[in-house]
Amino acid sequence: MLIKVFENYNALSEEAANEIVSVVKQKPDAVLCLATGDTPTLAYSLLRRRIVAEKIDISGCTFVGLDEWLEIPPQNEGSCSFYLHHHVFHPLNVKPDQIHLFDALSDDPHSECTRMDALIRQKGKIDLMLVGVGMNGHIGFNEPGVPTSLYSHVVNLDPVTQTVGQKYFTNTTRLTRGITLGLRHFFESRKAIMMANGIKKAEVVKLALEGPVSINLPASAVQHHSNAIILLDEEAARSLRK
Ligand code: GLP
Repeated sequence: MLIKVFENYNALSEEAANEIVSVVKQKPDAVLCLATGDTPTLAYSLLRRRIVAEKIDISGCTFVGLDEWLEIPPQNEGSCSFYLHHHVFHPLNVKPDQIHLFDALSDDPHSECTRMDALIRQKGKIDLMLVGVGMNGHIGFNEPGVPTSLYSHVVNLDPVTQTVGQKYFTNTTRLTRGITLGLRHFFESRKAIMMANGIKKAEVVKLALEGPVSINLPASAVQHHSNAIILLDEEAARSLRK
C-alpha cells in the first residue's frame, strides 16, 4: 500500500487522472471501475482534458459500475448511473456497448449480481478500481460488517449511508437498499486507487490505513490489497501518524 499526500484537492485529482491515463495507455482494452461521489468529480473532468489533449483512444475499454441505489431510476440525478453518464461517459464519448451498470429497477437484483459477476469473469479481471471512502468506511456499498468473500451483492444500506447519501439528491429520498461489487472484486482488481479529500474524511482515513483490518471498516481492506495506492489531500491525511 502506497500512500501519497497532495497539497490540495486539485493536485490529488490530477494524480487520479494520471493513474487512469497510465492504465489505459498500458492496456487499451482495460476494464475500469470508477466510483461515483463527490471525491472523484474533478479527477474525471481533468481526465477528459487529458484524453482530448493527448488523443487517447478509450474505445476499447470496458466500464463496470461500482454500486447503485436500488429502486432509484437512472434518470434521477442522484443515481450512480446519472453521475457516470454526466461526468464520465458523455464527456468521454463512451459507447453504450462499453458500459455495464447495475439496473437499479430490476425485479430481480440478485440476477443483476450474477450478470455483473459473469461479465467481470468473462473480461478477466478489473484492471483499475478507483474508489472513494464513505463516512462510515464503506467502499462502494460494502457496508460495515460485510464479509470480504463476497462478489456482487444486494445490501441493506447502513443508516450513515442513508443520511449522507441525501447530499446527491435534490429532494429527500428513501434510500434503503443498494447493490454493489464486492470486496472480493476489490481484492482481485489488478490495481486499486483509493481517494479521499477534506477534513471530514481524516478520521475514517486514519482508521482505514492505521487501524486493524476489520470487516467493521470495509475500507481497511485496502491494507491487504496487493497493488493499492491511496491518494489523499493534506486535510484527509491530517490525522495520520507523521
Ligand atoms: C458513496 C458511494 C461510494 C463513494 C462514497 C464516498 O455513497 N456509494 O461509491 O465512493 O460513498 O462518497 P463521496 O466521494 O461523495 O464522499
